[in-house]
Amino acid sequence: MRKLVVKLESGQGYPIHLGRGVLRRLPSSLRSRPVGERYAVITDHTVRDLYGETVLAGLERAGLHARIFSFAPGEARKNLRTVESIAGRMLKAGISRSDAVIALGGGVVGDVAGYVAASYMRGIPYIQAPTTLLSMVDSSIGGKVAVDLDSAKNIIGHFWHPSRVFIDPTCLDTLPVRQQRSGWAEIVKHGVIADRDYFGWLEKNAARLLRLRGKAMEDVLARSLSIKSRIVAKDAREADLRMVLNYGHTIGHAIESLTRYRKYTHGEAVAIGMNLEGRLALLLGLWDQADLDRQNRLLRRLRLPTRLPDLSASKIIRSIRHDKKSSNGLPVFALPRRIGAMATRDGRFGLHVDPALIKGTLT
Ligand code: GLY
Repeated sequence: MRKLVVKLESGQGYPIHLGRGVLRRLPSSLRSRPVGERYAVITDHTVRDLYGETVLAGLERAGLHARIFSFAPGEARKNLRTVESIAGRMLKAGISRSDAVIALGGGVVGDVAGYVAASYMRGIPYIQAPTTLLSMVDSSIGGKVAVDLDSAKNIIGHFWHPSRVFIDPTCLDTLPVRQQRSGWAEIVKHGVIADRDYFGWLEKNAARLLRLRGKAMEDVLARSLSIKSRIVAKDAREADLRMVLNYGHTIGHAIESLTRYRKYTHGEAVAIGMNLEGRLALLLGLWDQADLDRQNRLLRRLRLPTRLPDLSASKIIRSIRHDKKSSNGLPVFALPRRIGAMATRDGRFGLHVDPALIKGTLT
């Protein structure tokens, strides 16, 4: 088992336990170092059937009180209606301020459970136990928790850091291949935004990435987690630097909300977003065609889409204007200057971009 730490500017931080079997060891860890008196395990119906009952039984065997609260799977359920239903059930079950949440599942579960933890009785601690590749390498760390409105993704939320993260790669053995690809989109993003050698390694190993298991997979998880935690450590509340993690997401989120969170996985929408935001970087003269082609070739080798679906450019621009990063009415993007490094203007990663230019990349 490996232990990484996400350090925060406050001097505090939290550990990430990474390794095969850590989910089985979660109850004994909580028994020796409790996070709450009792635990509300929040999950979706699919993960409840795969791992939920086992985790619950483990917690009970360790003498811990736990209850499970599940909801129907899918991004379309990541909304305030689900939050209200879970919080209502937790209240009925007597979950109090001295208790904690365990988020057991993928990115949607982590977001809903984290949002409930951040809001329930004005905030209780929580633990992230991600079960998908995407949530392992991205959403389970960094403390961003949010739910969607029909018109905009992740628009209602908090920064609320977990107390501990347990990443067990054995969960990937049951993950459908489309969900695996979704996670690889974030991993390719990590190479593009921060680590040229990592990107080169991904390119060289592209043919076997979707079958990667064991130590090689743990190495990938550790490398992506260290990129993300380094960035979060410097700018947890996204004053500027953390925006680089949103590469591909501004357009990606617009595509997800305009297709009602049903047509694409998050990673698929991010892959399309990386192509389009990469084209924007090209139009701005920040990077060159060769780097954009390298990025898109790797995404396609992982069978991720890069082409914009049939959506009107003006609808996408309107949706981007609602993005949290927009300021003074202008969309803000973090864009690459080459594979492995992001561009800055006047020392800042967040670049204001004229919507007419964005339209140019969409049409
Ligand atoms: N997923 C982007 C971030 O955590 O900042």
